[in-house]
Amino acid sequence: MTRTAVVRTVAELNELLLPSQLAMSPVALVPTMGALHDGHRALLRTARELGDVLVVSIFVNPTQFAPGEDLERYPRDLDRDLRTCQSEAVDLVYVPDVESIYPEGIHGGITVDPGELGLLFEGASRPTHFRGVLTVLAKLFGLVRPRYALFGEKDYQQLALVRAMARDFAWRVEVTGVPTVREPDGLALSSRNRYLDDVERESAVALWHALRAGVRNAGDGAAAVLAAAHEVLAAAEGVRLDYLALTDPKLGPVTAQGEARLLVAAAVGSTRLIDNVPVLLGNAAKHATG
Ligand code: PAF
Repeated sequence: MTRTAVVRTVAELNELLLPSQLAMSPVALVPTMGALHDGHRALLRTARELGDVLVVSIFVNPTQFAPGEDLERYPRDLDRDLRTCQSEAVDLVYVPDVESIYPEGIHGGITVDPGELGLLFEGASRPTHFRGVLTVLAKLFGLVRPRYALFGEKDYQQLALVRAMARDFAWRVEVTGVPTVREPDGLALSSRNRYLDDVERESAVALWHALRAGVRNAGDGAAAVLAAAHEVLAAAEGVRLDYLALTDPKLGPVTAQGEARLLVAAAVGSTRLIDNVPVLLGNAAKHATG
């Protein structure tokens, strides 16, 4: 197996990517904040199939954390992450420092406005979050110039916004979503799960149970989906609901029939968790389940 190269500067990145760019070999980028888990491995495996060159960025992006959020305690374990990348045959890991991504400082320079969608759902609780996410991704896309960029469906709103950014800015990057990877009991894998103590970990699975209850009621329409999911969350101990929403797949208003997305965010202890599932509403659901 070839060795994974680790680069920290823009000059090193350019030098290593130049041959593949000259050969027009498609680059697949998996942007991450490190603390890699099996959900990231799923991204890496899909990316490996899509691109000739697989690049992973590891950067805990300060601008997507609001003051008082978990920027300082966000898990960091570069050695372990590099071993994961090596075992998944990643070609290049880019580990920039804050100064090279934000030469004007984290409060200066040009930023990307996510528009109205950036203020809904996650954005209602975290109004500056998606500006930070899209801004860092615009920079990473400019530096790496990927043909493919891969994101987990667990952060569904993030995925929708990155797709919208690529479309609106007419970038050639193909934004690909990869289904959520779950623990055996259904909890969505997340770097933040490690903040949960044993009791909180038991409570956290209520998000998954709520989503499943919603899906089971899809044949009876949107109101039934939301009512079933709310019932599970209301009965769950230690879970403080932020939002539960049913939307169309692009996060617009839900239609009575057909494809939809059920999204949930809740705090368990001091940890904020999000999850979502696809839902097939109305008669479509009845036909799908026979
Ligand atoms: O999903 C994440 O880990 C981050 O939001 C991302 C896409 C790497 C941007 O910092």
